[in-house]
Amino acid sequence: MENSTVTNTLGLRLAIERMPVSRIREVANKSMGLADVIPLWFGEPDVETPQFIRDAAVQALADGETFYTPNRGVPELRTALAAYSSALYGVPIGEDRITVTASGMSAMMLAHQLLIEPGSNIVCPTPQWPNVKGTVDVLGGDFRSVPLNFTGDDWELDLDALCAAVDDKTRMIFVNSPGNPTGWVMPREQQKRLLQYCREQGLWLVADEVYARIVYGMKHAPSFLEHAKPDDRLIVINSFSKPWAMTGWRLGWLTTPGRLGERLEILNEFNVAGASTFVQLAGIVALRDGEDFISQQVARYQNARDYVYERLVEHTRIRVARPRGAFYAFFAIEGIEDDLAFCQELVKTAKVGLVPGSAFGASQEGWLRLCFASEINTLDKALTRLEEAIAA
Ligand SMILES: Cc1ncc(COP(=O)(O)O)c(C=O)c1O
Repeated sequence: MENSTVTNTLGLRLAIERMPVSRIREVANKSMGLADVIPLWFGEPDVETPQFIRDAAVQALADGETFYTPNRGVPELRTALAAYSSALYGVPIGEDRITVTASGMSAMMLAHQLLIEPGSNIVCPTPQWPNVKGTVDVLGGDFRSVPLNFTGDDWELDLDALCAAVDDKTRMIFVNSPGNPTGWVMPREQQKRLLQYCREQGLWLVADEVYARIVYGMKHAPSFLEHAKPDDRLIVINSFSKPWAMTGWRLGWLTTPGRLGERLEILNEFNVAGASTFVQLAGIVALRDGEDFISQQVARYQNARDYVYERLVEHTRIRVARPRGAFYAFFAIEGIEDDLAFCQELVKTAKVGLVPGSAFGASQEGWLRLCFASEINTLDKALTRLEEAIAA
């Protein structure tokens, strides 16, 4: 029996009745209709999916590709993903290790469903995208946060502190790099050490690498896949949403040891039973022809990142690190304690939509997240309004 003082007036599981609205959506939900708001709250590219990917989906529909697919995805997409990952990371990754999912979010839920039992826990560096804790809560697990250290101009993980949070109820360590909201990128050496620790402890390592391609000064972020053996207890979550600007399509994938394939085949049957057929077929074309698009977008984000960082860092009341990956600036404003109230006021009076830092963990009160996947002139306008609001 779940134990809580909250009454379940709807007669549902208490874990669900007491689940709060994600703070990422809380400000946006109330303000999305307001005129002239510059919305920098959601984490998505500001451009539509490239035409050649849309054409591929239209063509697939015209060809009558409207039937169920195998639960782990159409074989051609699994083959294409195995080839893509092998080429990107320079290690052979077989298609037996690939499972297509209906989004990165669904991939995360599947990974957690594989591993989390009520009463077990996961250990995770924070601040962290709230859906990680949310899925753990749905499954009745315990989310253990290990804060990243803000050094003044960067974010760092104390690996010893992470490992010290593990106990006999820990099922997995969850790492998101490049990280949302901080833009922290886990160094390769640290990845190797963590992988080795998980091997020694018999723990699962779940790596959320959905921002692997959105990283500055390198082609891809360091990945656990580069160092792992095919049968290591490693699950990597990935998605088409961010690199190919396909957030609305809902397409992602998992890379796991091949021996989990049959379990995922069964488990996905009770989730979405396979992503949409024509979406998967368009995914093959995204992988084949999408590299130029990714390079152009990352160059745009890099300009935007530098622009936003320089503006923020020169403000005497703002503390911020230059993000190494993803497309968020995460910063603290001196004197602001209630970040939710600040964001609510900001959107009403200054017409800028940001996310309160407390969405990413209780220790981030007073912080704010701004998504800079936008045009420079839009960012300029938003930052001017923010600066005026701080001055007021
Ligand atoms: C860290 C992280 N993981 C996973 C996802 C899931 O992305 P999607 O469900 O669009 O594939 C997101 C989306 O914002 C994210 O920020």
